[in-house]
Amino acid sequence: MAELHHIPFNAPYIVGSELDNIRDAVDRLKISGNGHYTKLCQDLFQERYQFSKALLTSSCTDALEMASILANIEPDDEVIMPSYTFVSTANAFMLRGATIRFIDSRPDHPGMDEAAIEELVNEKTKAIIPVHYAGVACDMDVVSRVARDHDLIVIEDAAQAVDSFYKGLPLGRIGDLAAFSFHETKNIISGEGGLLAVNNSDYVGRAEIIWEKGTNRAAFWRGEVDKYGWVDIGSSFLPSEITAAFLNAQLEALDAIQKRRLEIWERYSKAFAVISHQVTLPSIPEYATNNAHMFYLVCESLEERSALIQYLKDVKVNAVFHYQSLHQSPYFASKHDGRALPYSDRYTECLVRLPLHMHLSDEDVDRVADAVIHFFQHRA
Ligand SMILES: Cc1ncc(COP(=O)(O)O)c(C=O)c1O
Repeated sequence: MAELHHIPFNAPYIVGSELDNIRDAVDRLKISGNGHYTKLCQDLFQERYQFSKALLTSSCTDALEMASILANIEPDDEVIMPSYTFVSTANAFMLRGATIRFIDSRPDHPGMDEAAIEELVNEKTKAIIPVHYAGVACDMDVVSRVARDHDLIVIEDAAQAVDSFYKGLPLGRIGDLAAFSFHETKNIISGEGGLLAVNNSDYVGRAEIIWEKGTNRAAFWRGEVDKYGWVDIGSSFLPSEITAAFLNAQLEALDAIQKRRLEIWERYSKAFAVISHQVTLPSIPEYATNNAHMFYLVCESLEERSALIQYLKDVKVNAVFHYQSLHQSPYFASKHDGRALPYSDRYTECLVRLPLHMHLSDEDVDRVADAVIHFFQHRA
């Protein structure tokens, strides 16, 4: 019998035109940021998703840090976000001295429990950071209503949510600001990479200044001022043209990538119907679309998840767990206000992600699915 090949959890997909684009960027003799390819990418995002302004960044982490500066987060301000998220969601606001109020996940979804936001709001609260886990929208009507009632800024962490929608609106288009990731684990990639989407027009002018180290250099390049200088705080948030050239190639293949990822997601989903009484399958609320960023299962216990991951490893399939609740992290535990967040802890211990990437054949997907089904059907 032929030896089984290893199925990795992720492998970056290369469209094919990335190197041609990079060669072209080099030939243009402009490889620092904010050149031809940066503009092409930003225009595409603005047109396709109707963001008032799109600014490429070197990572989603950078975009979140920009958002935190733009929102004028200051020491003593409070910011509400889920505990079940990546470090950068919180770190960007800790850097400005904010107090983070973590919220639990939903019983039916690892995303944040929108119904629990309002009770955390007080006179110090400045912003809500909904994280669209697995590219599946938070209930943005609830988030927007609380924000409106209490005059709060909404910053969407849309790291995983490219080309996903809430009631027909693109994610990243609903909050005042939004941050996307193009890290190599995402649907479209540039190695490291990100985007700040600005929807509230009050923030557009300052966003570009913060992006360019606190200077008005972008306005200078457009010929709007005759010299540029230091006008605000900022940092070097913009990526080089090499990164933008790579991303542009990916963007041209976005529809094809989304289509194939969705086929894989649905193949898993169909196969797992037979074990739906033994393990929790992902649920997509009726108001959300599925951008097939991730296929996850929620096991009964940490022991069951560890056994599943080990079983899959034995048959050469790499499945991985995800976030560690931030309220329990070594850095934050002593700063947490003590509230129990049981669902966040449950996903920390029980959620497992299966391989989902463009290098998987249908046979690979069936092999992963058969192994998972075998594990649950033969579990004592
Ligand atoms: C929810 C969330 N926010 C932010 C980030 C940070 O993205 P980046 O690696 O592009 O900085 C990630 C990374 O995966 C994430 O999952």
